[in-house]
Amino acid sequence: MTSFRDTRHLWRLAGLLAVAGLVGAVVRAALVPADYGRSGPYRESALADNAARPSLFPSDATCHACHDAVREERAGKAHEVVRCAHCHGHGREHVRLAELARDDASVAIPAAEPWDGDFLTRVDLYVTKDRRVCLSCHEAVVGMPEGFTKIDVAAHLEEQGASEPLSRETCFECHGGHDTAP
Ligand code: HEC
Ligand code: HEC
Ligand code: HEC
Ligand code: HEC
Repeated sequence: MTSFRDTRHLWRLAGLLAVAGLVGAVVRAALVPADYGRSGPYRESALADNAARPSLFPSDATCHACHDAVREERAGKAHEVVRCAHCHGHGREHVRLAELARDDASVAIPAAEPWDGDFLTRVDLYVTKDRRVCLSCHEAVVGMPEGFTKIDVAAHLEEQGASEPLSRETCFECHGGHDTAP
């Protein structure tokens, strides 16, 4: 029986490992969400949770509620897919105040501000005819997809006979922001 006595410490160790494993399994079951790993190494319901979060930007539909004329102007046009925020800022404060003003005539809606030339601007609502806004999407740069609607600015202005090609607002001689058709 001496050989068995010599292995006793190993059995204790095995017992300890088994208990630790059991505790680990119980704790893991309690902590890991039930739908983790069902479709990969993530929690499946996280997708729905994120979708349900309020958007950082008001959606175009929020703007449409009060600016139906703009919705109509853009309907079916090439720019219908371009979100208001690209050209007017995110407008959160504008929406908040406009909604208050709807029910309370004493609330004033501040006029749009000038754009400060920064695409990460903190200006809440702006109206601008600055060509840089248009060119942020349309200026031909290396690597743009073949089919993307792009222009070589100097060539385009020359070709179309812009009367003030150096003006910041030159694009608006021929295009609108809502209905871009020349
Ligand atoms: C609750 C109603 C309401 C909502 C929602 C709303 N607006 Fe307005 N907005 C107004 C009113 C009222 C005015 C001022 C009168 C006007 O010009 O029609 C205005 C004015 C503006 C102007 C012109 C400002 C100026 O000084 O020339 C712009 C641009 C604008 N809104 C963009 C937006 C955008 C973009 C959104 C969505 C993020 C939006 N609005 C959402 C009611 C609203
Ligand atoms: C590609 C840029 C662009 C997009 C996208 C855009 N706008 Fe505009 N918007 C302009 C420009 C430029 C003006 C100024 C036009 C002018 O003064 O002739 C303007 C003017 C306005 C005005 C002032 C009144 C008017 O009609 O002139 C409102 C209100 C407005 N936009 C709302 C919106 C809303 C709401 C959306 C989204 C549904 C939107 N815009 C999307 C460029 C844009
Ligand atoms: C956020 C990106 C974006 C901005 C900013 C933008 N556009 Fe566009 N523009 C588009 C997209 C997308 C289309 C559609 C392209 C397509 O379907 O191939 C388009 C189409 C056009 C077209 C072709 C119109 C047609 O009927 O085929 C013109 C012209 C145009 N934009 C002018 C402008 C002008 C002027 C401005 C500035 C006021 C501007 N764009 C700002 C994305 C943008
Ligand atoms: C003098 C008038 C004029 C000016 C100024 C002008 N355009 Fe155009 N633009 C046109 C015309 C006309 C067309 C249509 C050309 C065609 O279909 O061949 C056009 C077409 C476009 C297109 C579509 C190109 C394509 O491949 O379908 C874009 C994008 C565009 N312009 C953006 C701009 C921008 C941005 C500015 C300002 C930097 C600007 N345009 C200035 C007249 C002008």
